[in-house]
Amino acid sequence: MPVHLVEHPLVHDALRILRDRTTPPEAFRREAVRISRLLTAEALRDLPVATVTVETPIGPSPARRVTADVVVVPVLRAGLGMLDAVLELAPHARVGHIGLQRDETTAVASQYYAKLPPDLASAWVVIVDPMLATGGSAVAALRLLTDAGARRIRLVCIVAAPEGVAAVERAYPDVAIYTPAVDQGLNAHKFIVPGLGDFGDRLYGTV
Ligand code: PRP
Ligand code: URA
Repeated sequence: MPVHLVEHPLVHDALRILRDRTTPPEAFRREAVRISRLLTAEALRDLPVATVTVETPIGPSPARRVTADVVVVPVLRAGLGMLDAVLELAPHARVGHIGLQRDETTAVASQYYAKLPPDLASAWVVIVDPMLATGGSAVAALRLLTDAGARRIRLVCIVAAPEGVAAVERAYPDVAIYTPAVDQGLNAHKFIVPGLGDFGDRLYGTV
C-alpha cells in the first residue's frame, strides 16, 4: 500500500509552524488541530455514503449520508492532539485509546493502556499518531487493532521517517499511511531528522 503524500498548501503551511522550534505550545496545539483536520479529510475521502432525500425550505433535495462506522484511535499521548480534529469531521465516530511510550534510551515502545470499542471487523479505523519514527509504536498499535478484529485500518501521521514507513509496510502491507512529509531519516536517538522534535513535549509544554 503506497504512502499517500498529502500536498495541500494549507497542510504544509501548518507543518511549517509545527516544525519551527520557536512555536509555543498554544500555537503548536492550534496548528496540530488545523493540520489534522486536513489530513483526516484526505484519509476519509472514500467513506461510503447512502443517497437520501432531505427537505430544504424550498423542496426535496438529494443528499448523501455517511454510512461507515468510523473508529478513531489516538496513540497516547501525542495522538490526543489530533483527536478533536477527527471528531469535528466525523462526530459519529467511536474512539479507542492506545497508550504507548518509547523508552528514552532504546526507543522501544511499550504499552501502558488500551481500551478499544467492540465490533471492529467492519469499522473504518483511523489511527492518529503524529510521529512515525522507527515504526515501533505504529506496528504495536496495528497489532492490537488487528488482534481485536480490525481489518480496514489507515494511519494518519504528521511527519514520517523512511524507517517507520518501511516497518509498517513490512508488517502491515495493506495499511495506508497518510502524511504530508517523509523526512530524511532518524538520528542516533531515533528522532526524526529534521522532524519537529518531541511532539508530545511540544504539545503539552513538558520540554
Ligand atoms: C512518540 C510519538 C509516537 C512515537 C513514534 O510518542 O507520538 O507515538 O513516539 O516513535 P516510533 O515510531 O519510534 O515508535 P512517545 O513514545 O514519545 O510518547 P508520548 O506521545 O507520550 O510523548
Ligand atoms: N517521537 C517524537 O515525538 N518525535 C520524533 O522525532 C520521534 C518520535
